Amino acid sequence: MDFGLAGRAALVLAASKGLGRATAEALANEGADVAIGARDAGELDATAAAIRERTGCRVVAIPVDVTDAVQSQRFVETALGELGRIDILVNNAGGPPFGRFDDFDDDAWFAAFELSLRSTVRMTRLVLPHLPHDGHGRIINVVSMSVRSLLPGSMLSTAMRAGVVGMAKLLAEEVGAHGITVNNVAPGLILTDRLKHFGAKPEQAEAIPLRRFGRPDEFASVVAFLASERASYVTGMTIPVDGGAIRAIS
Ligand SMILES: NC(=O)c1ccc[n+]([C@@H]2O[C@H](COP(=O)([O-])OP(=O)(O)OC[C@H]3O[C@@H](n4cnc5c(N)ncnc54)[C@H](OP(=O)(O)O)[C@@H]3O)[C@@H](O)[C@H]2O)c1
Repeated sequence: MDFGLAGRAALVLAASKGLGRATAEALANEGADVAIGARDAGELDATAAAIRERTGCRVVAIPVDVTDAVQSQRFVETALGELGRIDILVNNAGGPPFGRFDDFDDDAWFAAFELSLRSTVRMTRLVLPHLPHDGHGRIINVVSMSVRSLLPGSMLSTAMRAGVVGMAKLLAEEVGAHGITVNNVAPGLILTDRLKHFGAKPEQAEAIPLRRFGRPDEFASVVAFLASERASYVTGMTIPVDGGAIRAIS
């Protein structure tokens, strides 16, 4: 299936590793030019070089902390200058810390808001005026399966991502007339550094219907589909990529 992404330009945040990196690579594999952002400039450059080498596509590395308004604006302006257009925005960031309600004070809640919700709002606001009105404009937010099914200990993440999902649903309606789609992708347990850091256990994989953790490229394929021409009539949705881990029926 041709995803029709050749000649399109995508911005992918938090893309030096993990789900963001896999997403940038999947989009480049389909022929899109990509601007990737993360805080560590060295790691970001190395990732951009590796994706360029593997795909032959244009991959621009622009360091950015998505919680910083000035850096976010500079990221979008630089990407636009380098790529000449923006068709696709993939909002992503590192996840907030795990813990229960009692573990977090107001500062922790505010930091989670900055990282998971406000960064998405700000990046979307910066990019929206540049998205085409020809049916190819795409906004895709990386959220978590915790928006559909309780994930014990994910208090901050669950609360903030519920905000992202609500915003995306309303925004999909507001920008639909311009042919722009807005969707969320909800990873289950995908084997990235983050999951390894939090000590993914074999018994967790056994509890998943597909009996294994997901691979970043499996997650990225779904994002690439949503970014593609083929997904032109899908908007306002939250699509899980979880090996069946969400047990809810609808
Ligand atoms: N993996 C899973 O199974 C899973 C499940 C549910 C939800 N998620 C969510 O999916 C997102 C990505 O997770 P992941 O597993 O890919 O994590 P990861 O492997 O730890 O990668 C995180 C990426 O985010 C970047 N980053 C972190 N903070 C940033 C900031 N303030 N500004 C810009 N970039 C930043 C990191 O680079 P720098 O440190 O250099 O900035 C890195 O490139 C997270 O929000 C996570 O909570 C993941």
